[in-house]
Amino acid sequence: MSPNPACFYLFLWLLSLALAIPTSIVKPNCKSKCGNLTVPYPFGIGTDCSIDPWFDINCNTSFNPPKSFISEINFEIFDILDYTLRVKNNVSAACYNQTGDLKSSEDVGIDLTTSPFTISDTNKFTVVGCDDFGTIFEDADPGFNNGCYALCSSIEEVTEGECSDTGCCQNDIPKGLQSFSESVSSGYRDMNVTSFNPCAYAFLGDPNSFRFSVSDLSDPTFQERTAQNVPLVLEWAIGTLNCSEATKSHDFACFENSVCVDSETGLGGYRCTCLKGYEGNPYLSPGCTDINECESNPCDEHGICTNTHGSFNCSCKTGYRGDGRGCAENSQFPVIKFSLAISSGILVMIIAAMVLYFSIKKHTLKKLREKFFQLNGGLLLKQRLSSKESNMNSTKIFSAEELVKATNKYSDDRILGRGGYGIVYKGILHDHQVVAIKKSRIMDHSQIEQFINEVIILTQVNHRNVVKLLGCCLETEVPMLVYEYVSNDTLFYHIHNKGGVPLFSWDNRLRIATEAAGALSYLHSAAGMTIIHRDVKSPNILLDEYYTAKISDFGASRLVPIDQTQISTLVQGTLGYLDPEYFQTSQLTEKSDVYSFGVVLAELMTGRKPLSNTEIEEEKILATYFVMSLKENRLFKILDPRVLREGSLEQISCIAELVKRCLRLHGEERPTMKEVTIELERLRKWSKYPWTEQEVQEDVSGLMSEQPSDLYSVTINPDLSTEE
Ligand SMILES: *[C@@H]1O[C@H](CO)[C@@H](O)[C@H](O)[C@H]1NC(C)=O
Ligand SMILES: *[C@@H]1O[C@H](CO)[C@@H](O)[C@H](O)[C@H]1NC(C)=O
Ligand SMILES: *[C@@H]1O[C@H](CO)[C@@H](O)[C@H](O)[C@H]1NC(C)=O
Ligand SMILES: *[C@@H]1O[C@H](CO)[C@@H](O)[C@H](O)[C@H]1NC(C)=O
Ligand SMILES: *[C@@H]1O[C@H](CO)[C@@H](O)[C@H](O)[C@H]1NC(C)=O
Ligand SMILES: *[C@@H]1O[C@H](CO)[C@@H](O)[C@H](O)[C@H]1NC(C)=O
Ligand SMILES: *[C@@H]1O[C@H](CO)[C@@H](O)[C@H](O)[C@H]1NC(C)=O
Repeated sequence: MSPNPACFYLFLWLLSLALAIPTSIVKPNCKSKCGNLTVPYPFGIGTDCSIDPWFDINCNTSFNPPKSFISEINFEIFDILDYTLRVKNNVSAACYNQTGDLKSSEDVGIDLTTSPFTISDTNKFTVVGCDDFGTIFEDADPGFNNGCYALCSSIEEVTEGECSDTGCCQNDIPKGLQSFSESVSSGYRDMNVTSFNPCAYAFLGDPNSFRFSVSDLSDPTFQERTAQNVPLVLEWAIGTLNCSEATKSHDFACFENSVCVDSETGLGGYRCTCLKGYEGNPYLSPGCTDINECESNPCDEHGICTNTHGSFNCSCKTGYRGDGRGCAENSQFPVIKFSLAISSGILVMIIAAMVLYFSIKKHTLKKLREKFFQLNGGLLLKQRLSSKESNMNSTKIFSAEELVKATNKYSDDRILGRGGYGIVYKGILHDHQVVAIKKSRIMDHSQIEQFINEVIILTQVNHRNVVKLLGCCLETEVPMLVYEYVSNDTLFYHIHNKGGVPLFSWDNRLRIATEAAGALSYLHSAAGMTIIHRDVKSPNILLDEYYTAKISDFGASRLVPIDQTQISTLVQGTLGYLDPEYFQTSQLTEKSDVYSFGVVLAELMTGRKPLSNTEIEEEKILATYFVMSLKENRLFKILDPRVLREGSLEQISCIAELVKRCLRLHGEERPTMKEVTIELERLRKWSKYPWTEQEVQEDVSGLMSEQPSDLYSVTINPDLSTEE
């Protein structure tokens, strides 16, 4: 019996259809689309379609068009691209009424710590508003935290499309972040701002999807609009093992013809990608399949294409010769010879041009260095150095090559820290001296003379508690400073990473505080000039091998001539330590340093960070929390247990009182650094004699019983004021 021809053709047609279907991107019997969104495995719509419950997508068809959600956490997905997900965002807001009182506020937080998702470091933290600051914290200890101020006093100051601290500011976030809380609130909001900017906003999201507009400041739909238009970018990885471990495990997810790639987040996990020349979904059996490159005719018109695994091969048809990509008729032999001659001629010319180019480039590089040297005031500095009577032989001008060598070409593993003013590298000079090299951010060339002054003053500053400046390099576009290397991390690290127990005895805290105060007091009155540090904070107090304090980072410092008591500057400093009066008036005086030092003292006494991530509003800012606790007689509740145990009641209350005075709102009511130093010295000396014996006893009794000492129950009386 012959087959029915109609059926036969139908069969052929079905067969061709089946062959045309591309390699599947989802598991068998699973949907590959939710509305417009393509959902490739390891994601899947429905339980048995994904690799793990975290990759389940809930496709909700009651919306038109349907919307996709990550089932476990109900985040709406806009897009799945490679190893990133773009999800619908949430925006924090704080709104104020006409008289500047808080009307409503909404904070946002995300916790993905148990999930395979991390928050991509391509997101930026953005704050929109006038006179508003936003903060972002990782919900971990110790965790990342950052924040910025968006300032403007009138709408005219704001530039369309520019997010550069006026009306809008942005911060980067680190790799591998899995949780954060953000909030936004006003600095010193007054009625004038509220009229054109009723609300402050903050969000973490894709900066390429956001363009700041002046109208954003007054747009009541900003929150909802931005949540919809500026997605949050998440990254995902499979599991927590790295590739070398996962390859050995029984549920390794990468199939044939694919490679495993470690996740870059530092949290473990991996992804699979097809080898070059292969396509398909590497997470699904049988893996990636070969691409038939010959379909797109990559060879010469007289060539023959042969598909190979992962690649293809071209050869020439009979009667032609060549490499397959260019085939010429055999008879045209002289043509080939001719073109060979031409091409070798061209080759010689190219080589000559390259030699010429590189020698010119070397020459311009040298010229460029000389130019920077002059721009950066190198000549001025040389002149000053040679004319000075001083012992300036200790100040060195380093060459650019020398520093490149010392830092191993600014290699990442030499980075000691990053700050607002640049990156600090560890360097080893040719004489094996270890140094710290600071590469500043771009600087304003109109400030060169001041920079030179600063270098000269700092090289003259010779105080055991100030990091010594050894020299500088001016041949690069941004000047670089070379400091002595201080080996034992920062005060911040030792206060907040509870490992360093022996260091943080009461005696040591008091000594470090006194040393830092002494150095600041010296800077405030050194060399006929006042040096205002401007960024006093525990991360800028370094500790050497003997835990001696050394003040560092003069990137923001300013010199004030002795006949002037204040100068106007752009507000700079660090959130939590920044003097509110300076912030409001932009008038910089040495009392701003006193305020910041007060915060450092409070940090030493309590072991708390200057800004805490807590629910309770009044505990967020250490400076105000400390003063309020003192006022309400509950200071003992927030003091570090070790301080309570080892400090005497008189000492603690004197220092608490000192902190309070340093943190006064009006600069002129604050003590000078000199007064602070004297007071601290007095307390230290006082402690020395009568307390040594008792301390030994306490330590012994502390070892024998874990009973807290009586001091826990003592209420600190703020009226036990200091004797002056
Ligand atoms: C789809 O969304 C609607 C409206 O938000 C909700 O009521 C419903 O429960 C959702 N359905 C599923 C299957 O999640
Ligand atoms: C799908 O995308 C196209 C173009 O990107 C758009 O015009 C269409 O409205 C979308 N359809 C749905 C259901 O989202
Ligand atoms: C945004 O907020 C909504 C409602 O509180 C919540 O369901 C959703 O998961 C949040 N999305 C993100 C990305 O935080
Ligand atoms: C603003 O809010 C404060 C406190 O809620 C209230 O006393 C004041 O009257 C409000 N001002 C206006 C203009 O609504
Ligand atoms: C607010 O505006 C009024 C009048 O426009 C002005 O007198 C006052 O100084 C402004 N306040 C601030 C803090 O700028
Ligand atoms: C993979 O992880 C193991 C154990 O955590 C570690 O020893 C190994 O060095 C890691 N391999 C790579 C390439 O990171
Ligand atoms: C590709 O072609 C070259 C010569 O044209 C031949 O030597 C080689 O074996 C071919 N490769 C494959 C995989 O066929």
